[in-house]
Amino acid sequence: MSDHSIPKLYHRYFVEKQDERRQLFEVVADRYHPQKGIYPGSFVHITPSLFISEMTYIDSDRRLSAFFEDSKVREFIAENKVYPQDPVIDWYQSDYSEKLPVQKGIFDVMFSFYAGFISQICKGYLKEGGIIVCNNSHGDSSLASVDKDYQLVAVIRRNTDNFTISKENLDTYLIKKDGTPINREKVIKRMVGENFTKKAFAYIFRYQPKS
Ligand SMILES: C[S@@+](CC[C@H](N)C(=O)[O-])C[C@H]1O[C@@H](n2cnc3c(N)ncnc32)[C@H](O)[C@@H]1O
Repeated sequence: MSDHSIPKLYHRYFVEKQDERRQLFEVVADRYHPQKGIYPGSFVHITPSLFISEMTYIDSDRRLSAFFEDSKVREFIAENKVYPQDPVIDWYQSDYSEKLPVQKGIFDVMFSFYAGFISQICKGYLKEGGIIVCNNSHGDSSLASVDKDYQLVAVIRRNTDNFTISKENLDTYLIKKDGTPINREKVIKRMVGENFTKKAFAYIFRYQPKS
């Protein structure tokens, strides 16, 4: 595919930086077969739409609407998607903590990468039994791990462009190097994940609300 047919911002921030993470979304789609996904703090990271047919993106970046309104976005997704149906793409140029016209409780998967405490603030978008795939960069997986509404079900390991889902030895993850319990208040204050003895690229939690 020529560079001209790739949406400009996506090319600059994800293709040029070799950070599309295609296989990450591929392995999640293959394992969990999500129909509807939501990606708060996505910026223009539209790679999930290549593997998941209905995606909602939310980001406060002022360039978001112009990006998604460009016909190149739909063309790029249409040319690269792996599923047969037409993609459904919704986007909101907004703070994800604001009340949005997005239905709650219907999403099979939510993604949270480098964009704050999405597991906490956007929890209501997930359906019961849905999953969140989050990393620990800002501490979101630290917070999810001490939230009774979530249960760790798998981790994603990364080896350059290869991503694999593992369910092995899950009890050996999310353990702090200094042996103390995860400190929710400290994570929220510093917006940095706890330092774990064994790290994964991302953690997959199932949402089963207790209340
Ligand atoms: C470092 S980028 C990460 C983008 C993408 N998740 C990725 O993995 O490449 C963080 C993005 O989160 C967005 N963001 C952070 N806090 C947000 C909030 N409260 N509401 C909406 N977007 C937010 C920023 O605008 C930015 O585009």
